[in-house]
Amino acid sequence: MLHRPRRNRKNEVVRSQVRETNISVDNLIYPLFVVDGQNVKSEVKSLPGQFRLSLDHLLKEVDECMNLGVKCFDLFPAVDESLKDAMGTYSYSDKNFYLKYIREVKQRFPEAVIMTDVAMDPYSSDGHDGVVKDGKILNDETLEVLGKMSVAQADAGADIIGPSDMMDGRVEYIRDDLDLAGFTDVSIMSYTAKYASAFYGPFRDALGSAPKFGDKKTYQMDPANKTEALIEAELDYAEGADYLMVKPALCYLDIIHMLKENFPIPIAAYNVSGEYAMLKAAAQNGWVDYDRAMPEMLLSIKRAGADVILTYFAKEFAQMVKGK
Ligand code: PBG
Repeated sequence: MLHRPRRNRKNEVVRSQVRETNISVDNLIYPLFVVDGQNVKSEVKSLPGQFRLSLDHLLKEVDECMNLGVKCFDLFPAVDESLKDAMGTYSYSDKNFYLKYIREVKQRFPEAVIMTDVAMDPYSSDGHDGVVKDGKILNDETLEVLGKMSVAQADAGADIIGPSDMMDGRVEYIRDDLDLAGFTDVSIMSYTAKYASAFYGPFRDALGSAPKFGDKKTYQMDPANKTEALIEAELDYAEGADYLMVKPALCYLDIIHMLKENFPIPIAAYNVSGEYAMLKAAAQNGWVDYDRAMPEMLLSIKRAGADVILTYFAKEFAQMVKGK
């Protein structure tokens, strides 16, 4: 036998020499849920190990993560129902606690990179990502709200704006608004191929942001479609996105791979709440070995072509790497 591929697997030194993919904490973004108040740290039932944090706990969490090497955070606000309205006006209000938290984190940790979420759902009394009229989600009317929200977040100190709403034309609209307001250095990580997925369930529990009627299928993509992701990616790239994101990650590795092959900018993947919950549940039952399965999941997303991974596993991965 001339070829014995097993020779390159014979011990760990050789295996690490020839390993094609490595994953580092540098590639990870840690999503965190925040809530108004003081001394609040309430666990999200369907996301064991993930919490809604008030500012004091948020600062502590960021500090711990920074020490572990996790330096980029995507913040999501859980907003009180009484502050929600049809136009999501709280999203850019001076009184918005989320904007205040961003300011505080950036002040305390200037070297932390803060990503924010742009979509109306946490602020909308309809629970949709856009403006609703007669049961329909309006595209162009929503852009105006998204633009204002983006500028308010950039003004608070956000480094990366993450439009997760799937309205057409929003990347260009937001880019224009940011530039006009002088935020030319603020990046846009566009949720480019965001699918109408069942795997967002625990996230909507965390924020109480589930749609009050219907579903998100008229704006989020059909899980059956692949070519359509190319159309979305071409638009976002042309409109000035700095990163293209695929979401969810694990059921959509083919999409990650395709975008990586076709576009010259960094590809991000969102390892979503339902994916985290599935593994946590199986591990709690003793059905899979968490310590092996978790890094294997992250590795598969990286191997598919993601440069950056948003994942609730970020902190535990960093702890694992550091042997803590
Ligand atoms: C809101 C938003 C969602 C997620 C990120 N931003 C939910 C949705 O579109 O309903 C999901 C993240 C996750 O499940 O971890 N636009």
